[in-house]
Amino acid sequence: MAAPAPGYPASPAEVLDVVGVGFGPSNLGVAIALREHNATDRRRPLRAHFVERQATFGWHRGMLLEDTTMQVSHLKDLATMRDPGSRFTFLSYLHDRGRLADFINYGSSFPSRREFHDYLEWAAARVTAGADDVTVGYGSEVVEIVPAPGSAASVLEVVVQGPDGVRRLRTRNVVLACGLTPALPEGVGTGRRIWHNRDLLFRTGELAGTDPARFAVVGAGQSAAETVEHLHRTFPDAEVHAVFARYGYSPADDSSFANRIFDPAAVDDFYTAPDAVKQQILGYHANTNYSVVDPDLIESLYRRHYHERVAGVERLRFRNVSRVADVVDTGDRVELAVESLIDGSREVISADAVVYATGYRATDPLRLLGAGLAGSCRRDASGRLVIGRDYRLTVEDPASTGPVTAGLYVQGPTEHTHGISSTLLSNVAVRAGEIVGSIAAGGPVPAAAGRPARDGASLTR
Ligand code: FDA
Repeated sequence: MAAPAPGYPASPAEVLDVVGVGFGPSNLGVAIALREHNATDRRRPLRAHFVERQATFGWHRGMLLEDTTMQVSHLKDLATMRDPGSRFTFLSYLHDRGRLADFINYGSSFPSRREFHDYLEWAAARVTAGADDVTVGYGSEVVEIVPAPGSAASVLEVVVQGPDGVRRLRTRNVVLACGLTPALPEGVGTGRRIWHNRDLLFRTGELAGTDPARFAVVGAGQSAAETVEHLHRTFPDAEVHAVFARYGYSPADDSSFANRIFDPAAVDDFYTAPDAVKQQILGYHANTNYSVVDPDLIESLYRRHYHERVAGVERLRFRNVSRVADVVDTGDRVELAVESLIDGSREVISADAVVYATGYRATDPLRLLGAGLAGSCRRDASGRLVIGRDYRLTVEDPASTGPVTAGLYVQGPTEHTHGISSTLLSNVAVRAGEIVGSIAAGGPVPAAAGRPARDGASLTR
């Protein structure tokens, strides 16, 4: 085997404090919180390594569409909500790039998605620059996590498949932040002409030089509306058929009171609420995030549609109250049977490609846990994972190993315990602080530690 990549433990016997699985915004936030912890508490610096499947840092690259903006204020970046004085805030990035005044004049709290991606890349480079306590290995995938042999389960072994073969990392804690998995209707698989919107820019890039005549887009959420807009604008001779069950796109609730559902304090409220109240909250406020569209985008699509009707040339078509009854890739086309939910009538659309903008689901965090670990994670009466306020899984003793004292933390699949911001960016900074606080303390810490109080004053400073 080749020499260890920079930052990898020189000896396979070295035990790290943290291995992070995935290096998207959630674990990037943890990396920043770790470096800041190490800078302020030099008595016992924590040593961490993150493993990322992608060859370089990337955040939803297939959807970095021109003119799309963030749906979260830049103040909910990787650090500000935990520590506005951090070197890793969006404002610090703007200052570093020489654009602070220009951004102020831009006059909005919502940067473009492309600019925010540039910020995340900047932060990912800055957090590891010259650091040997926090390192990242790109182009590598974690394939299994098991109790380390002979460690009485106080240490976990993380099996990493990299370009130069398999490595085994030993660690006292693992933070799983594997992100979202594209969701497709049952029986539908992606192919040359059947796409999930996750790959939109890559797939449309492959069409360069061709002259597509028709697209179909399935779904009525933000990504679906963005996909319709993008295809309609990028291919000026193509028809774009939007297929969805709703009567029309529904607006996202971005109003001030509703937005409080994404506050750090809302996580405490949600976590301690009775189960029935949790369900109620998720139901009341689903329209802040799920199957809804930014009102400006709805307006712009409607106007475009209306102007086409006035001009008598309709490229933008809405197949509302409809479903896709069948989809067949014939090689040079894709045939889509669209069925009206009103009268059951069917029409076949022959398209160059169909884009399923049918959402995502949180990646199963237990997929990687082997050797009895997955089965030992405690579940509630409804079969859902029991997760501590500090995002730590509760692991019972697997018969094979005895008590597992190593920490297994999850970011993402915690909506049932921590609420609607679990898969979003809103709480990345505060959540990262809470996880690092728990790791540094060697286990669960009081819920309030490591995060700002309700009035914004940090409880740790
Ligand atoms: P994310 O998916 O970003 O990263 C997970 C990483 O883990 C990936 O890089 C993946 O390669 C890696 N990985 C997975 N398994 C691995 C393994 N076994 N080994 C190694 N690496 C592995 N939210 C919001 O609040 N405001 C917004 O404006 C938006 N905008 C937005 C736009 C689009 C197009 C999408 C699809 C989503 C959003 N979101 C959002 C929500 C989005 O989920 C959120 O912004 C973050 O991506 C969550 O960050 P994570 O790091 O948890 O997952």
